[in-house]
Amino acid sequence: MTLTTDLPARTGTAPAPGEPLLRISGLGVSYGAGARVLTGVDLDARAGEILGVIGETGSGKTTLARAVVGLAPVVEGRITVDGHDRTALRGRALREARRGGLVQYMFQDPLRSLDPDLTVRQLIGEPLAVAGVARQGREPEVLAALDRVGLDRALADRTPGRLSGGQRQRVALARAIVTRPRLLLADEPVSALDASNRNHVLRLLDRLRRELDLAIVVISHDLDSLAGIADRIAVLYRGRLVEQGPAEPVLDRPLHPYSALLAASAPGLDRRRRADLALLRTPAQASPPGAACVFAHRCPFADADCAALPASRPHGPGHSAACHHAPDWRTRRPR
Ligand SMILES: Nc1ncnc2c1ncn2[C@@H]1O[C@H](COP(=O)(O)OP(=O)(O)OP(=O)(O)O)[C@@H](O)[C@H]1O
Ligand SMILES: [Mg+2]
Repeated sequence: MTLTTDLPARTGTAPAPGEPLLRISGLGVSYGAGARVLTGVDLDARAGEILGVIGETGSGKTTLARAVVGLAPVVEGRITVDGHDRTALRGRALREARRGGLVQYMFQDPLRSLDPDLTVRQLIGEPLAVAGVARQGREPEVLAALDRVGLDRALADRTPGRLSGGQRQRVALARAIVTRPRLLLADEPVSALDASNRNHVLRLLDRLRRELDLAIVVISHDLDSLAGIADRIAVLYRGRLVEQGPAEPVLDRPLHPYSALLAASAPGLDRRRRADLALLRTPAQASPPGAACVFAHRCPFADADCAALPASRPHGPGHSAACHHAPDWRTRRPR
């Protein structure tokens, strides 16, 4: 991309080589007393990498992304981006950080997140305006962003109401990359799209992370969307990370019963997944009393061990799960 504008300078120390761009440790988010949404989340994302975050509705995926951009009430833990602590940013410091455009968050609902009265040109130019780029400096960047996401420049004068769903999602993406961020948080970027648009947008994300050396966190409730593009996958259940690791073993040899259930419920069942699905049927008996594991109530293999909260333990290169019975639950007798 041609650097024709002067975005606010990004000061501070860059992370050491090999250091993740995004580092989340021990993150807890709570909406007021008792409304705990995330607990003890540890997660990294590197430049050029796509990290998939998966979990059912209400598991805390959007909250996780919002915490990174300072929009969720963090009560414990630490979030750093490019070596800078984002956890305690408030008020003016937070606005300054947003102005820099280092991190961009793509909202879950592209139609609602785009002002219906603005043109595509204005919408994509907005983050640049926020960053203090003068009007004449914005135009070439807006056109470059349109090109990058594969949108016809002729659409620049349209309003969102006169675009297709796929085009709107591309406008949202163009808006997110126009400030040349290092980290993009894409919240359900394809869930509102039909299969063909879905593939286009996924391929586009895959290309952008390479071209822009961008770390992308793709949030999804559907494993199939992540299967083709994620390098690593993290599985959230009720606000806790139950498994994370390279995409291939997480999808093909899941360690946690919940991940196995997700994988087994996706279309295109192979024999092993079908066997998992049979194993993971809703348990016949209630979970053992006092179970601390968040998945115990749905887990056919929960027993007295699960009274203690399972810590995340490694079981392969970069692959870990928080389950007392990982990876051997398949050989146990269900309750
Ligand atoms: N502003 C808020 N105040 C109180 N509770 C909230 C707020 N935002 C979210 N929650 C709660 O936090 C939990 C996680 O919500 P979140 O939006 O992060 O889930 P999600 O995984 O993104 O779900 P979905 O797949 O439906 O988008 C839910 O129980 C939700 O009701
Ligand atoms: Mg959400």
